[in-house]
Amino acid sequence: MPPLVIDNFPSTPGKVKVERSNYFGRMSHHWQSSSLANPLLWLFGLASLAVVLVVLLNSLDGYKAVHISSTWGGAQWEKQVRLSAHRKRSDNKVVLVTGAAGFVGMHVSLALRKRGDGVVGLDNFNSYYDPSLKRARRKVVENHGIFIVEGDINDAALLKKLFDMISFTHVMHLAAQAGVRYAMENPSSYVHSNIAGLVTLLEACKSAQPQPAVIWASSSSVYGLNTKVPFSELDRTDRPASLYAATKKAGEEITHTYNHIYGLSITGLRFFTVYGPWGRPDMAYFSFTRDILAGKPITVYQGPNQMELARDFTYIDDIVKGCVGSLDTAKKSTGSGGKKRGPAQYRIFNLGNTSPVTVPKLVSILEKLLKVKAKKYIVAMPGNGDVPFTHANISLAHKEFGYKPSTDLSTGLKKFVRWYLSFYGTRGDGIRRS
Ligand SMILES: NC(=O)c1ccc[n+]([C@@H]2O[C@H](COP(=O)([O-])OP(=O)(O)OC[C@H]3O[C@@H](n4cnc5c(N)ncnc54)[C@H](O)[C@@H]3O)[C@@H](O)[C@H]2O)c1
Repeated sequence: MPPLVIDNFPSTPGKVKVERSNYFGRMSHHWQSSSLANPLLWLFGLASLAVVLVVLLNSLDGYKAVHISSTWGGAQWEKQVRLSAHRKRSDNKVVLVTGAAGFVGMHVSLALRKRGDGVVGLDNFNSYYDPSLKRARRKVVENHGIFIVEGDINDAALLKKLFDMISFTHVMHLAAQAGVRYAMENPSSYVHSNIAGLVTLLEACKSAQPQPAVIWASSSSVYGLNTKVPFSELDRTDRPASLYAATKKAGEEITHTYNHIYGLSITGLRFFTVYGPWGRPDMAYFSFTRDILAGKPITVYQGPNQMELARDFTYIDDIVKGCVGSLDTAKKSTGSGGKKRGPAQYRIFNLGNTSPVTVPKLVSILEKLLKVKAKKYIVAMPGNGDVPFTHANISLAHKEFGYKPSTDLSTGLKKFVRWYLSFYGTRGDGIRRS
């Protein structure tokens, strides 16, 4: 994959003056006097250039295949999009759900569809985790008449096409590169989806006629190294502990700009550790389940002074209620023709559960549900982006749209485990059985 930036150049073009050193002068004289005259050297130079070009083109193809693969367009495709966008009644919404083949995206799409909203999904089905799980989710939503466009949020032409075809009232933007630790392995994927992709999507929203209201997933990770609990929307968010958190924080600033300049109605939702059926295999509750069933040891991290890590685990149905509640209370965008016509709504809400549970407690609930004792390795938390605890204050979301989570961790995990066993069986190899 090509590098995103050339390190030696400043981000502002035109601000650099390249000095022509004596070395260049000496070398050009040397080339004129000797090398150019040698046809063998010319041949060798051309051959090297060809090799470099082939390698470069191949790597660009690879980049496109990994990052912007899409199969959209054509009469049949358009028909599917229009059908999917069809709402039951005129007071229903028409929503573009990005990341619809993802964990939260699938559940939110289904909830919107069930009440009669028109829903069009968009997802690039990337392989951050097993894409066959994403395709299985797609089957579920397709059974409810929802079409998921296969494409990337960086594909401006695709977004333009969708907004030209459909008057979306809302965009529920859930597509992102998730995961905290993977950011050390593949940082550019976070820039690609969470920064560049977000801007491409907002550009399309700002130019759309009419402009949709945008609801999007930020993250509790923006609270970073804060120690004051519970985390409130008014707390500082300038000490992220991971690149993932930094891109979500950047997203909050970027969306604010589009709200301020173009009048886009924006609602940012800071989700706190969402779990449940059809969840994400990279998350601890999911991988613990798989490994406990397989008899493999699980690694449980401890904070400083042997402090147990804790998370404000939030059940997917509660998150869905929060997403739908915030969508229903989102005011219209105020821009048109790419110009702001008046002040627009800008909101940020915590969507958590307000009752953090320690990771050892999570493990003991899973042990009971799976009827298998876990082999635990307790190790000190490495400094790779995790934070010791999260705890949400949700009074703002409660006041605005009656958000009130109602599923405790034992109840929610019971539903997760039931789904897991029906989908993968009891072998713990993560290979689908159903
Ligand atoms: N699950 C959680 O605990 C949690 C917590 C905080 C925030 N969030 C945020 O909530 C949102 C949904 O999370 P999730 O758990 O469902 O994750 P997920 O990975 O299951 O879903 C995200 C989906 O977006 C798609 N996607 C990624 N980049 C894309 C791109 N460039 N173009 C098109 N599609 C793309 C992926 O293929 C995936 O299906 C994300 O924005 C995530 O950062 C989740």
